[in-house]
Amino acid sequence: MQHRMVLNETAWFGAGSIAQIVSEVNKRHFTKALLVTDKALMKAGVVEKVTALLDRHHLPYMIYDEVVPNPTISVVQQGVELFKTAGADYLIAIGGGSPQDTAKAIGIIINNPEFADVRSLEGFADTRNPSVPIIAVPTTAGTAAEVTINYVITDEENRRKFVCIDPHDIPVVAIVDAEMMASMPPSLKAATGIDALTHAIEGFTTKGAWELTDALHLKAMQIISRSLRASVAGEAKGVEDMALGQYIAGMGFSNVGLGLVHGMAHPLGAFYNVPHGVANAIILPHVMAWNAEYTGEKYRDIARAMNVPRVCGLSLSEVRVAAVDAVKQLSADVGIPARLRDVGMKEEDIAALAQAALDDVCTGGNPRDATLADITELYRQLY
Ligand SMILES: NC(=O)c1ccc[n+]([C@@H]2O[C@H](COP(=O)([O-])OP(=O)(O)OC[C@H]3O[C@@H](n4cnc5c(N)ncnc54)[C@H](O)[C@@H]3O)[C@@H](O)[C@H]2O)c1
Ligand SMILES: [Fe+2]
Repeated sequence: MQHRMVLNETAWFGAGSIAQIVSEVNKRHFTKALLVTDKALMKAGVVEKVTALLDRHHLPYMIYDEVVPNPTISVVQQGVELFKTAGADYLIAIGGGSPQDTAKAIGIIINNPEFADVRSLEGFADTRNPSVPIIAVPTTAGTAAEVTINYVITDEENRRKFVCIDPHDIPVVAIVDAEMMASMPPSLKAATGIDALTHAIEGFTTKGAWELTDALHLKAMQIISRSLRASVAGEAKGVEDMALGQYIAGMGFSNVGLGLVHGMAHPLGAFYNVPHGVANAIILPHVMAWNAEYTGEKYRDIARAMNVPRVCGLSLSEVRVAAVDAVKQLSADVGIPARLRDVGMKEEDIAALAQAALDDVCTGGNPRDATLADITELYRQLY
């Protein structure tokens, strides 16, 4: 059996590490950046932390701030045009998963213009050239898009969200600076934090999981379950730990895949613009329970990583229930709603949602094979 691991060339961690952008740019002889971000981050003064640094060191850049949550094909295409007119030679992505994913699609299309329609990048695209170099600065803790080989784009016309998997899109540099994340409101910290927990749990139980990624996912679960509540409560140490925990999860899942939770969450983003983390958070415990019998002893490890007491004394069926309960409790403690109807899902869309989830590239990695009827029933129960 052979396994591939793709990771950033360089990653920096710790408060204030955005300062390292300067040496990374100079060392690599980059000349002009296109900064990919969104308007809310401009307004919140988060982008300014990076632009002030670039200004101070006379590093030229142009800003593209039209990214929206669940970024669309046209958002990517506008960014491609701006990159060309700006005369840029690298990208700095500043934001949550949405700006990170948009930057990846822009970088890939610039160097592989035959994919300019964006749709043809879905799944495992056969690109020939690496993306334009990307320096990824995450502002949520979260998607770990700064260290993954995936990006997710929304096709508004066809009401679809599609995942692109391509080692050519891996950012060369990731700057994981918790000070860039501190301004997240508690609800965003909660949603993006449970997204990271979902990556760790799905990556740990996915069909392609192996020892090295198991180690990463267990460590991520440990860090996330002990620090998410503190992060949501506004403690700086909690945010710093979440920044690391979500990155470690990304190192793992990016290389082995996810499962049905993400498969079912993506259509909810496409249909109703449900925030990605909220969709995952509602679905995760339910699908975990549905998968339990197909995961061997793994829920015992999950329960241990999540600090469930007296794990050794529990039977396998008890420990499975305990692991699911620990996830439910964490979600409830950070204020995630419990039902999909609470986030705008419509009952009459269930058939279409289930078909989209079945077709999603993440679904195939689920430890238990799911049929259309299974997914339909799961959506119905979660509604
Ligand atoms: N590439 C991957 O591997 C991967 C993995 C999981 C999810 N995703 C995708 O990422 C997207 C979701 O990303 P996300 O959950 O990080 O959110 P996001 O990037 O969509 O941002 C959500 C909102 O939070 C705001 N925000 C971000 N950082 C902030 C900060 N520090 N302070 C204040 N406000 C802030 C943004 O302005 C935006 O309005 C989805 O499209 C999802 O499918 C990608
Ligand atoms: Fe995710």
